Amino acid sequence: MSEDLPPLDLARPEIGPEEERLVLEVLRSGRLSLGPMLERFENDFAEWLGVDDAVAVSSGTAALHLGVRAFGWGPGDEVVLSPFTFVASANCLLYEGVKPVFADIDPASLNLDPEAASAAVTSATTGLLPIDIFGQPSDMPAFEQIATDRGIGILEDSCQALGAVDSEGQKVGSRGNVATFAFYANKQMTTGEGGMIVPADPAMAEVLRSERNQGRAIDMDWLDHDRLGFNYRMSDVTAAIGVAQVARLDELLAGRARVAEMYMKRLSGVAGIELPAADVPPARRSWFVFPVRLPEGADRDGVIRSLGERGIPAKAYLPSIHLFPHLAALGYREGQFPVAESVAARSLALPFHAGLSEGDIDRVASALADALAAG
Ligand SMILES: Cc1ncc(COP(=O)(O)O)c(C=O)c1O
Repeated sequence: MSEDLPPLDLARPEIGPEEERLVLEVLRSGRLSLGPMLERFENDFAEWLGVDDAVAVSSGTAALHLGVRAFGWGPGDEVVLSPFTFVASANCLLYEGVKPVFADIDPASLNLDPEAASAAVTSATTGLLPIDIFGQPSDMPAFEQIATDRGIGILEDSCQALGAVDSEGQKVGSRGNVATFAFYANKQMTTGEGGMIVPADPAMAEVLRSERNQGRAIDMDWLDHDRLGFNYRMSDVTAAIGVAQVARLDELLAGRARVAEMYMKRLSGVAGIELPAADVPPARRSWFVFPVRLPEGADRDGVIRSLGERGIPAKAYLPSIHLFPHLAALGYREGQFPVAESVAARSLALPFHAGLSEGDIDRVASALADALAAG
């Protein structure tokens, strides 16, 4: 069935006049890198999150990599995480020779199951890496208890969850653990590409700022380096977009929550669809994507094709990463994480951004219902 409607976007950034104005301000200032806009973005972000400091970097992956290094994790160490995530959550460990140890997810939150995580801890475990998948806050009190009991660290991958609030009413990333965020164009707020790491203390912040800048301490001259570093800098042009986005982050989050609410209402009438878990206050998801789960045995590729024919992009999202060749090579195989594998086989991300209207949501829901009925 074809419709004479323009295709919908799967995701869309919200860029306005203030983003344009601040980018122009940087371009005209002549300070395109390591200038005042970078510092302003870090300060504004830290203030919004309610933390003392935040270090901006070139991507969420760079933030995770520097986080792994900040703990000193390396060869011989194991870190426990969920396989139901974006591949960067595990790659950041591989960069430093750390073994990613996967444990299964909770079927409601789709995040690492604390009991499974605890069971996966061995004498080689030096950390936990909880991921707030799809913007759903992890069970941080449980992970903090495990970390305290076992004397290990926590690196939070909150790259999908800026603005989420956890079960104790705290913004994700503000509990004093090392936490990371990402600003790719489909995220709650974007800088095009970019990331942020929340350090545990000022000493860690100093090392992070040095390592993102080729190992050059803040008080050192050009071409003077006293440790191994990387070029993980965020430019001031990029930071300018970030400053404008943080200033209206509450509004950006509210816009996404409004669209998610429309989806929840409209799709609750579509038989066979499993919706994202409802919030249990004070916890609150931050809407990154809108993922649904199709019934067991449904032809997901057929559904994606059928939606596509009606101008509705949808993605099989996410795969369980333990089956990717470079991770399977560590000994992982199909059947090891049944919950993650079942969810991965059935989950589908629908078009999601704050610009979707009630009519758009209705169009997606009708097309999805038709596709499922036909399959
Ligand atoms: C859970 C998770 N971790 C890490 C990243 C990496 O962020 P980036 O793409 O900015 O490197 C992403 C990006 O989508 C992510 O979803």
